[in-house]
Amino acid sequence: MDPLVFAHRGASADLPEHTLAAYLRALDEGADGLECDVRLTRDGHLVCVHDRRLDRTSNGTGLVSARTLAELEALDFGSWHPGCAPSDGDEPPDESHTRLLTLERLLDAVLAAGRPVRLLIETKHPSRYGRDVERRLVALLRRYGLAEPGPDSPVRVTVMSFSPLAVRRVHDLAPGLPTVLLLDVLPRWLPPGRLPSGTRIAGPGVGLVRSRPRLLPTLRAAGNQVYVWTVNKPADLELVLDAGVDGIITDRPAHTLARLGR
Ligand code: G3P
Ligand code: CA
Repeated sequence: MDPLVFAHRGASADLPEHTLAAYLRALDEGADGLECDVRLTRDGHLVCVHDRRLDRTSNGTGLVSARTLAELEALDFGSWHPGCAPSDGDEPPDESHTRLLTLERLLDAVLAAGRPVRLLIETKHPSRYGRDVERRLVALLRRYGLAEPGPDSPVRVTVMSFSPLAVRRVHDLAPGLPTVLLLDVLPRWLPPGRLPSGTRIAGPGVGLVRSRPRLLPTLRAAGNQVYVWTVNKPADLELVLDAGVDGIITDRPAHTLARLGR
């Protein structure tokens, strides 16, 4: 079966990552799902931002966690990206290209898509925020009816983390939510092919997959689903397709879909 194609931070090769425009582009292109990172603002809101600091992806500086939602809403999260530069005669990019995306606005957008969408939500730095990220995330998903989705729910959420503790917390709070343990190295404590209890899916980085040729066959032989990130290069795409993975997380969903003939 073809793997699911997830747009990493939206169609982030073409448009500013984590903006509504990048996510809507990925849905237009036919991505099966979207990946996003979430952090907490100083006043406890979940916002879609990858970096700990604001400097790379906005016109602000300093820590995301040191700002309130209102302060972050005043920043420009898009103009740094070449895909946001207005070409001659075009309208300047609208606010969907430049405004901070809250997780609530992303959930509203996927629920309004009118077709099935998978959403991979990665909690960033759970140790810094204590239990708060997972607690607030599960509470928000519950409010949207997405923590225990029924069989007909068009939107399916999976929570991911590099932290086994965070994955375990999510599992304990909402056992119906699938979880991914992200791996950028192979932890010594994890026996080959095994995942910690509470984890449903393995999420190795493509660098790890390249350096450990036995990793994917071992994980799959043990009956695990595997989602690989971030698969942008053609050679990496062929590698994971040959291995028969279940999900591909990419900045370039249109290229991956074209390779799959979709
Ligand atoms: O999809 C998993 C991947 O996003 C993890 O790495 O740094 O891009 O969040 P990062
Ligand atoms: Ca991520």
